[in-house]
Amino acid sequence: MTVRVGLLGATGAVGQRLIQLLDPHPEFEIAALTASEESAGKSYREAAKWRVEAPIPEEVAQMEVGATTPEDVPDDVSLIFSSLPSGVGAEVEPDFCEAGYVVSSNSSNGRMDPDVPLTIPEVNPEHVDLIEVQRDERGWDGALLKNPNCSTITMVPPLEALDRAFGLTDVRVSTLQAVSGAGYSGVSSMEIIDNAIPHIGGEEQKMETESRKLLGEFDGAEVRLHDMDVAASCNRIPTLDGHLENVWADTAEDVTADAAADAMDEVTGVDLPSSPEHLIKVFEEPDRPQPRLDRNTEGGMGVAVGGFRETTDGVQFNCLAHNTMRGAAGASILNGELLLQNGYL
Ligand SMILES: NC(=O)c1ccc[n+]([C@@H]2O[C@H](COP(=O)([O-])OP(=O)(O)OC[C@H]3O[C@@H](n4cnc5c(N)ncnc54)[C@H](OP(=O)(O)O)[C@@H]3O)[C@@H](O)[C@H]2O)c1
Repeated sequence: MTVRVGLLGATGAVGQRLIQLLDPHPEFEIAALTASEESAGKSYREAAKWRVEAPIPEEVAQMEVGATTPEDVPDDVSLIFSSLPSGVGAEVEPDFCEAGYVVSSNSSNGRMDPDVPLTIPEVNPEHVDLIEVQRDERGWDGALLKNPNCSTITMVPPLEALDRAFGLTDVRVSTLQAVSGAGYSGVSSMEIIDNAIPHIGGEEQKMETESRKLLGEFDGAEVRLHDMDVAASCNRIPTLDGHLENVWADTAEDVTADAAADAMDEVTGVDLPSSPEHLIKVFEEPDRPQPRLDRNTEGGMGVAVGGFRETTDGVQFNCLAHNTMRGAAGASILNGELLLQNGYL
């Protein structure tokens, strides 16, 4: 069965990656594209400033971009991928859910709402059933599912491996984030060339809260946040794609650098078309992973780790993932596959 899907915010950095990853996709077929009023009514080729390495798929290039309202999306579309600015997402995503669409969203609005599942299918797939609670509370025929922020997705799979094996108590993380994480008009060249910016608005808080929800327990009614303490410091640097992060993880049980690397090396993907066979690639070289060399690990859907060192109460390591693939478009598609597998479409 092929599911017809619609893309909200289809012309942006994440929307373009979605188009690249959905062409082709074994389960999903692009049936609608929307963007801002400025783009509505134009062909996708005219509306999008295409920046992906591969060319625009011809059928997509010729499609007309619609306005971002449920009325502009055909009824036979059952899954919506949303990559809208969060303020716009907060306004329009509930309209789509109310109109019966199931929305897999990248936007940060609502991620920490108690009845909104926040999932990484390889980490907490069972949280998807929070949709039952959401439908009861909101009376929606549709549903809203979120993937986490791109910097959170990078560190959580390795942290989950450590938590399962040794129990996490405290996490400290400092990021070196690529410019594509801010979208196409996010950071100007005058700001970022020959520079590093030690602040990304709201990002620290997202890493500190979303990671605790992802590693929290879902009891059928609510998600209890993990009680680990997380503190983050986020920095923008002049790389194009791929967020690199330095993580210090304190554990309840004793851990060695080798044991931490082994725990991560054992993590496999899940039975979904976009999940990689080997989720976490462990590098032995102390100077890897690096953004330019390693962001396309497992076709951009893997997480690369390395630089393990023992610390007083745990381990330090570095991790890296492609922010618009594993961190955004790929994450949303994986969540769409999870929704289909669990009978929500
Ligand atoms: N970039 C990343 O690595 C990343 C990672 C994780 C999550 N996210 C999140 O994903 C979302 C999209 O990010 P992005 O980087 O793709 O942003 P972007 O490049 O700025 O694209 C924004 C998209 O939203 C559309 N849009 C803007 N204002 C609109 C409005 N008022 N009504 C309808 N559509 C509107 C734009 O259409 P026009 O072209 O017509 O303006 C464009 O398609 C954001 O919430 C971001 O925080 C991004």
